[in-house]
Amino acid sequence: MPRTRATAQGAHEPSRGVDVLVIGGGIIGLATAWRTAQHGLSVAVVDPTPGGGAAQVAAGMLAAVTELHYGEQALLALNLESARRYPDFSAELEECTGQEVGYRPCGTLAVALDSDDRAHLRELHALQQRSGLESQWLSGRECRRLEPMLAPGVRGGLRVDGDHQVDPRRLTSALVTACERAGVVFHHHWAQALTVHGDRAVGVRLADGRELHAEQIVLAGGSYSRDLEGVPPHVLPPVRPVKGQILRLTVPAAFAPFLSRTVRAVVRGGSIYLVPRQDGELVVGATSEELGWDTTVTAGGVYELLRDAHELVPGITELPLVETRAGLRPGTPDNAPLLGPTALPGLLVATGHYRNGVLLTPLTADVMASALVCGVLPDEALPFAPHRFSPLAQEHSA
Ligand code: GLY
Repeated sequence: MPRTRATAQGAHEPSRGVDVLVIGGGIIGLATAWRTAQHGLSVAVVDPTPGGGAAQVAAGMLAAVTELHYGEQALLALNLESARRYPDFSAELEECTGQEVGYRPCGTLAVALDSDDRAHLRELHALQQRSGLESQWLSGRECRRLEPMLAPGVRGGLRVDGDHQVDPRRLTSALVTACERAGVVFHHHWAQALTVHGDRAVGVRLADGRELHAEQIVLAGGSYSRDLEGVPPHVLPPVRPVKGQILRLTVPAAFAPFLSRTVRAVVRGGSIYLVPRQDGELVVGATSEELGWDTTVTAGGVYELLRDAHELVPGITELPLVETRAGLRPGTPDNAPLLGPTALPGLLVATGHYRNGVLLTPLTADVMASALVCGVLPDEALPFAPHRFSPLAQEHSA
């Protein structure tokens, strides 16, 4: 539905408005755009490089059970529900695009290398059992029987057959194609500022000065969501960048199968994981660093990852190292995403997915489409409504 409102600059022709404008073409923005366009709304995405962002770095673990943390019960329910939707979501995306997304229901093995690690894993196992989750305690020998490349010193582990993986790069590439086929329009520019008219968000000003208009705007810019000009302070999502360094290695055919499932551990308090893909890629991650916008790959980060991975799987030093990279997780004060309408009419957010962006993609797409198409935020997303961080909500809960 075209709008005729003049641009703030007046320097360019006003753009035709769309129903929904998504700011951010990362995995969350793309999935939201795709699902929404499937419902018949006109959708545009603003991003200089759609398909980029944190998903280009992420390992793609779908680890609702092995990444369970104390105090995150509500998030667990959301994570499990999204994991449940993954097989259908992947199959639909593959069917629609003809592109494989690398969904692999391979399970996960979390192991302990010393008595401190084992105590930590025992705690996690107890928490998983209290939460009604399926996981099985294994001796060190049983772990090595499952994964013969594990170090002889492995002291025990947790077998979690329900935690799988997907290839985030393939997934984002398929989402770009799916969006194009569903008629989503891409604007390959930075969004500079939200435009607000009266008490309503009405569009976006691009870095080149052009204005785009829309009935509804979704802020899905990951860590950058906090930096969009023009967003009133009380609705700015409280996201911060949390740096993760990650490595990619290749398993030559002569070494295959190197690992048959995701293997992870906590070594010296740091989390390490090895995610083996069907195509021979082996992803090793990840550091977690509060360093602002820094995406430098450091010798120290690579050293720590290789050192810990080598303790876990000594044979890793034989493999070619093909890539080192750092990305930014969008962290929030409670480690959970912000989903749905904000206090500013016309503006919704889908950001702050922190460690679970890839895992939460199918569910985010569904709940955002529901909010955009029907004006209803589904029950499962209600605990994650953005207003939980607004100053007013905090006054009431004090
Ligand atoms: N979920 C894995 C990570 O954030 O490193």
